[in-house]
Amino acid sequence: MLKDKRIILGVSGGIAVYKAVELLRLLTKAGAEVHVIMTRAAQEFVTPLTFQTLSGNPVHTELFNLIAEREISHISLADRSDLFMIVPATANIVGKIAAGIADDMLTTTVMATKSPVLIAPAMNVNMFTNPIYRENEERLIRFGYRFVAPVTGTLACGWEGQGKLAPPEVIFEAALETLTLKDLAGRTIMVTAGPTREEIDPVRYISNHSSGKMGYALARAATRRGARVILISGPTNLAVPDGVELLRVESACEMQAAVMAHVEGCQAVIKAAAVADYRPIDRKSEKIKKKDETATIELIKNPDILAGLGAMKSPPFLVGFAAETGMVREYAEKKLTEKNLDMIVANDVSQIDAGFNVDTNRALLLFKNGSSVECGLMSKDKLADKILDYIVTGLAPC
Ligand code: PMT
Repeated sequence: MLKDKRIILGVSGGIAVYKAVELLRLLTKAGAEVHVIMTRAAQEFVTPLTFQTLSGNPVHTELFNLIAEREISHISLADRSDLFMIVPATANIVGKIAAGIADDMLTTTVMATKSPVLIAPAMNVNMFTNPIYRENEERLIRFGYRFVAPVTGTLACGWEGQGKLAPPEVIFEAALETLTLKDLAGRTIMVTAGPTREEIDPVRYISNHSSGKMGYALARAATRRGARVILISGPTNLAVPDGVELLRVESACEMQAAVMAHVEGCQAVIKAAAVADYRPIDRKSEKIKKKDETATIELIKNPDILAGLGAMKSPPFLVGFAAETGMVREYAEKKLTEKNLDMIVANDVSQIDAGFNVDTNRALLLFKNGSSVECGLMSKDKLADKILDYIVTGLAPC
């Protein structure tokens, strides 16, 4: 996701320095080229060698290091970066940048950069709420610097309050968001995710193995790319992606009602949810008691939400999913035509590394015009971006 992106990771001194190591791991895993600059205080907590080993690049510590300056000067480092991050950022470093002080490698390089700057502060709660710090942060925000707010909790100094460095995953997501082209700005996209639950009685239901991971990855990616995202989700244990409008539902009928109530104004609908095809014809109001050796539950067909959207007079761009265990292309083609879709994402859910409740997927994308694209094994996040690339191409201009 960050392939070909060059990031400077500035590390200033605080107990949270070890979390910058975890962030570095996430950035390099996503394909970014990372150059680390450490202040003197940061080196008291973690050695430059750790960052050097994990980044695969020399760590910059001294402004007046002749050898390092000959290899790559602080100005060319600043010039060539796509994103400048400071994690963790102390009150001291934020104060220095806000005051225009450039007296070491980190402050000098950040002063020289033209790239976006993302700062994740970590400090004692009283420092964080100190009006001097507040004014420094606000001043930098006015100049276009972005901040990832620290979280509330027990701080290293023993105090309780806001000041803990945000989790590395949250800072990573903010970096992705900053670097992502907003090619879905001005669009509203509906995503459905997760399973539905069809109640049999007050204690039992029919459902499936959908975790919601695929749908939530799509919602996250579309939000990052600037879309307004309406996420209609069956029951899941997943964290709600920042910025999405979430509507929780349980049954297929509830999902249908939510979809139809919000579809107007959507330019695209992506139906990643695993909707139960049938529900018990008669939901019992009391728990069914154990009696005979066998029991029968009579089922009735659920409304096909996607087919309903396909039958609209002027439907939005419609993307269906097909969860198959064999004859993947054939069944998916049938669904594409019968439900009047623009595109269908077929996944073979009989494979252990694809489909339900895993972080990866493997899909065959089929389009209305008869063309198709094979997507080999990849993370659901990556597949989400690929699907959105095709939606961007398929949407009429704003
Ligand atoms: O949630 P995860 O654990 O990440 O797993 C992802 C997934 C396997 C659930 C996902 O990738 C996927 O394949 N979702 C679609 C599952 C499904 O219901 O497929 P289907 O072939 O039964 O349905 C075809 C399409 O019609 C789907 O877009 C479905 O949302 C839609 N449908 C189905 C039945 C129904 N009554 N209404 C519908 O809208």
